[in-house]
Amino acid sequence: MKKIIIAIDGFSSCGKSTMAKDLAREIGYIYIDSGAMYRAVTLYSLENGIFKDKEIDTKRLQKEIKEIHISFLINQETGCPETYLNGNNVENKIRSMEVSSHVSPISTLDFVRKAMVAQQQAMGKAKGIVMDGRDIGTTVFPNAELKIFVTASPEIRAQRRYEELHTKGQKVSYDEILENVKQRDDIDQRRSISPLVQAEDALLLDNSHMTISQQKEWLMQQVNHITK
Ligand code: DC
Repeated sequence: MKKIIIAIDGFSSCGKSTMAKDLAREIGYIYIDSGAMYRAVTLYSLENGIFKDKEIDTKRLQKEIKEIHISFLINQETGCPETYLNGNNVENKIRSMEVSSHVSPISTLDFVRKAMVAQQQAMGKAKGIVMDGRDIGTTVFPNAELKIFVTASPEIRAQRRYEELHTKGQKVSYDEILENVKQRDDIDQRRSISPLVQAEDALLLDNSHMTISQQKEWLMQQVNHITK
């Protein structure tokens, strides 16, 4: 089977990561969650007083961005990749509401995007990669052999996120999550650099009313079609 690059873009909380992770495991590819990288930069900024009282000290962040090292290591127990920030496992911390509600402004910064895109392109050099995010098929890998654009209604996405956070013991209201989902959609679509748009050659997948296994079957059909 020839190795390709699979770019999965779409709105927040529409199950992109679960789907991309699953697909990568199934076909023996490396999975990279590009959103986790923006989340890690956000966590770094919050923990180091760079992002404080709704203000980002962009000068300091620009200076320190070279010192922010993000990597992914497989958790041997779960078999899933986890995010490391400067050597520390931050997988749980980067999924908190605190990070979720601060990540959009960080991800709109030009120098942050440039630094992340360069790292992402380096990770895809050898192909055999599934990467999910917002600009993977448009900016990071415009020549990806397979591009999928995933969407689902904001209410369904908020419900999924609500269940995920509650399973992890994080008590956040559904309304707060829905508000956050809508706000992030808005910022993601309106930002001037790499806004969230469907690449012309991306396949649209609306999974509002699809089960995980239906989605998986659909995905495998697309992969088989391209790699055969
Ligand atoms: O996929 P996620 O919700 O974990 O992403 C977190 C944030 O990072 C989201 O608000 C949009 C941003 N993001 C981005 O701008 N570009 C990407 N390639 C991935 C995520």
